[in-house]
Amino acid sequence: MKQVLIVEDEPIIQRGIERVVGLLGHKTFAAFDGRSAVEIAKINHLDLILMDEKIPFLSGLGALEQIRSSDGPSKNTPVVMLTAFNDKETIKSAISVGSNDFIVKPFDTEELVRKVNKWVNHSVEQSWRKLNAKEEALLRVTLDALTGAFETTKGHGTLPFALVKDSCDRILNVLELGLVDSALTALKAHDDYTFVHSLRVGVYMSVFARGYGEFSRDELAVITMGALLHDVGKVKLPLQVLNKPSVLDKREYQIIKKHVDYTMEILGQYSNSPDQVMEIGRDHHERPDGMGYPNGSHGAQVGQLARMAAVVDAFVAITDRRIYKPAYDFAKAFEIMKLSDGQFDEAVLQHFEALVMDSGLHG
Ligand SMILES: [Fe+2]
Repeated sequence: MKQVLIVEDEPIIQRGIERVVGLLGHKTFAAFDGRSAVEIAKINHLDLILMDEKIPFLSGLGALEQIRSSDGPSKNTPVVMLTAFNDKETIKSAISVGSNDFIVKPFDTEELVRKVNKWVNHSVEQSWRKLNAKEEALLRVTLDALTGAFETTKGHGTLPFALVKDSCDRILNVLELGLVDSALTALKAHDDYTFVHSLRVGVYMSVFARGYGEFSRDELAVITMGALLHDVGKVKLPLQVLNKPSVLDKREYQIIKKHVDYTMEILGQYSNSPDQVMEIGRDHHERPDGMGYPNGSHGAQVGQLARMAAVVDAFVAITDRRIYKPAYDFAKAFEIMKLSDGQFDEAVLQHFEALVMDSGLHG
């Protein structure tokens, strides 16, 4: 869980921001003036500061200046200024004292979410620099491609297909060098859940497809793309359901299920979406026993790629850390999956387990 300080003297705005940031799964701190913002930043390791510019006892700029020149744990924390003016002078002086970004008031929830998502993982992403250059490129390019995919499809925008294809190539390059282990480990601390989940599903699916079945490099790239985009429709789900920090109730689960239709709508905008991408998007929640969704397909109606994607998706979800559950280790994940009778193709599950357990991947 990341720590976000909200510095805002208007209680209604403060509470509104707090609600959104909380829904994204982060812990919030509130300051109503500049002096207390500096005090909080002095003693807490914050991952992001959202700072109103017009606040009592030191302006936002004054507080930012003191935080940057302190020796506190949040000295280098990204700061996004909330400003009422989009004028060059304000922006120039904020940059000169170390602001990273701006939100001009009044702003909508979507913009706030976008900026929080962009900056809250900044320190984790900085640490990626320690990785091998290929691994760093894999994480950055794929995260950018996924961010682009989610951003541009929110309205009626279209998928940045070329970017996604490029990511798939990078993933395959990194796999060929046997470097994927530390790249996956480096993702663990990243909190941007849907992106990271999709990225991990993409990487594990590539690993799986390379070791299982006779796929050409082109087919592997397409399968990777399908896995990366399998949940892209989640972009159309309400945030309070998508990021709910506890287990979903029945009604919310029905809403979540709609992501498959949305994914197909988005992928369907392309007359040339490869069949494999469509199969993974459409059928990754179907089950061989017919108890899956959205169509309740069963037996041979559920194709091999969908069976593989279902196993990988569940494995990644179980080994992901969420606010309401720990990240289970690999052995435990397979134990849980074997208990869910009829949900998975047994042969596919066995192959995946053998591959993961023998590969030495730590996830
Ligand atoms: Fe899904």
